[in-house]
Amino acid sequence: MANVNAGILGTGHSYPEGILTNADLEKIVETTDEWITTRTGIKQRRKAGPGEYTSQFAVNAAQEAIERAGIDANEIDLILCATVTPDQILPSTACIIQAQLGANKAAAMDIVAACSGFLYGLTIANPMIRSGQIKYALIIGAELLTRYVDYTDRSTCVLFGDGAGAAVVGPVDTDHGILAARIRSDGRYEQQLFAPGGGTRGGFTAETIARGDHFFKMRGNEVFKVAVRSMAEIAREVLCEAGLTTDDIKLFIPHQANQRITDAVSNALNVESSKVFSNIAQHGNTSSASIPIGLDECVESGRIQKEDVVLMASFGGGFTWGSIVMRW
Ligand code: ACO
Repeated sequence: MANVNAGILGTGHSYPEGILTNADLEKIVETTDEWITTRTGIKQRRKAGPGEYTSQFAVNAAQEAIERAGIDANEIDLILCATVTPDQILPSTACIIQAQLGANKAAAMDIVAACSGFLYGLTIANPMIRSGQIKYALIIGAELLTRYVDYTDRSTCVLFGDGAGAAVVGPVDTDHGILAARIRSDGRYEQQLFAPGGGTRGGFTAETIARGDHFFKMRGNEVFKVAVRSMAEIAREVLCEAGLTTDDIKLFIPHQANQRITDAVSNALNVESSKVFSNIAQHGNTSSASIPIGLDECVESGRIQKEDVVLMASFGGGFTWGSIVMRW
């Protein structure tokens, strides 16, 4: 083993310009700003226009991350793009990004792990960097969820937004970077949060499209309960593995699914609210993009400083979940 840890060297993020407010949604479905705000904390979300697609935002975020890491795209060995809303079925969005960046040495593939995709990506790249197998990885979370939202279903259409976040990961000294990382899944919950159309099982025909099988469907209540329990449990595990407690944490960046989930997980972990990141009011749930966007917003605003211990936790469709603790 090379004597290094894997740490984040640069971050970036990008959003579409279009904004869909709760007031806009009041005109589309039977809902109110009051219901959405009290049940979710969301006030608005970004929504891509007709000519826009996932890789555009991923490339913008990635370019920013590469520049801030102070490396050249040619030095990247691995590109992992976490997305459940790819540009197209084949090739992977990661390959489209690889070409756009001119990352000529990089292997590239997508990760389909819903909201946990970014933490899955970091966890996969971590041992490859620590062992010296690769030097630099580019991990991206990028989603245009509004393309798969049924705007006649008020229980899901108020939740999701679009955006992308990216991080360049590379070798740092062993006191810094990723201190512990864990990811898990339980596919028995497949039908709690899913889109059955478009694949080899559900098919992709005029009939499946007319039925809206390609839209996200969610049993929100069930997801909520398992999300809180699983995120808190796995965050405790990584803290324990790193020999840390929540007192050591400078910042907790949970996946932005719902403010009530964030509050419940933070309470379960005993993390005081001043240490908890939230941008759900402005952006809603951007799935795999929410944590890398959060990281970049905190770096930009100076909320993350060198030596700070940052805890991240996520939960999403699959179900999948994960947590990482790192020292900046
Ligand atoms: N406006 C007004 N009323 C609504 C709306 C709305 N937008 N949506 C639902 N309601 C109504 C329901 O019809 C129901 O009415 P009823 O009592 O007459 O039947 C009532 O509000 C309560 O509905 P619940 O579903 O019980 O509301 P809940 O408090 O659970 O909130 C929510 C729903 C926001 C979806 C919540 O369950 C949640 O956030 N779940 C988790 C979401 C999540 O974490 N997803 C995971 C990641 S996403 C990913 O992987 C891509």
